[in-house]
Amino acid sequence: MRLWIVIVVVVPPRGVCCGIRYNLELSKLTICNHGVEMGTRGPQYQNRLRDALRPDTERFPADGERTAERLLRSVRRLTLDPETEVTWDSPWEEGKWFLPAELVSLYGTPLWEDMSPAQRMELSRHEAACHAWTAILGEVILIPMLARHTARLDPASKHVEFALTEMEDECRHSKMFARLIGKLGSPTQPLGFLARCRRRLLSTMAGPLEMFTLALTFEVVLDQFERAAMADESVQPVIRDVFRVHVIEEARHTSYAREELARRMVTCAWWRRHALSLLSGRCADLLVSQLAPPHIYSEVGLDARVAAAQASTSAHRHATLRSCGHQLTAFLTEIGIIGPLGAWLWRRARLL
Ligand SMILES: [Fe+2]
Ligand SMILES: [Fe+2]
Repeated sequence: MRLWIVIVVVVPPRGVCCGIRYNLELSKLTICNHGVEMGTRGPQYQNRLRDALRPDTERFPADGERTAERLLRSVRRLTLDPETEVTWDSPWEEGKWFLPAELVSLYGTPLWEDMSPAQRMELSRHEAACHAWTAILGEVILIPMLARHTARLDPASKHVEFALTEMEDECRHSKMFARLIGKLGSPTQPLGFLARCRRRLLSTMAGPLEMFTLALTFEVVLDQFERAAMADESVQPVIRDVFRVHVIEEARHTSYAREELARRMVTCAWWRRHALSLLSGRCADLLVSQLAPPHIYSEVGLDARVAAAQASTSAHRHATLRSCGHQLTAFLTEIGIIGPLGAWLWRRARLL
């Protein structure tokens, strides 16, 4: 017996669903790429229309074009090439840190007091490599999300031009951090099977809200570490150069993510807000554990279990992380992403 499968494709007429931006005749509605002027038929009717327009405002955010245009002007003014900005061939300077001592995970613990100066310096070298590896991981997760986001937008928009520029920046940064890890000569742990699955799932499923939340979580916390290190003369000049390049170019990315997120959260459904709260808290937790994984303590001759326990209960580490996360957590709380459950996860990560 033959089995016939009939696939019916229903194509909604232009003006329905996502295409509502085209001249709806309802209620003297005038729609353009930069805004919506509503008619005067009462608040309920207007709310319904606003809901109907939601997919469209997502495709063409009201001020997204202006933000992207401003940031693109900054790209033309200031884009740094790590090839020439970083003195890659200069040797490591004797007695200089790879991260400021105060940012090393064990600083201020009883174990730190017992460590020799060489061990402390060596630990800062491993943590600098972990920082670079964390930055790469954040960027390689973000790039496919940005690519998918771009595919849904108008290719002629400034918004797309900036998203493509951001991908270009992130590729350059990841290459720079990979080169730094090679120069540091510190072993890094590749992602395990479960982490790779999580990354793949996140890259595939995430929408713009998840993407911008994730981008901010990674970029702002790392940025605070980098700002402190680049201003510290006791740190190796090569590390300071790398961080300077990253801090300058990331300022555009965080500005873009911050503005997009704040704009999109206005129309975010309650259940998605809770999902974002959990996602951001979980990412914050993973980010912090990635900055000082237990295997680096074994590399400097310490008991990994004891060292990890002391780092996780260190008051100094807690204060450092909290001050690095302060700006971000205040912003995410203000726009409603950090709720009660998310706050618990952020506290667990010691960023709140
Ligand atoms: Fe970056
Ligand atoms: Fe970035």
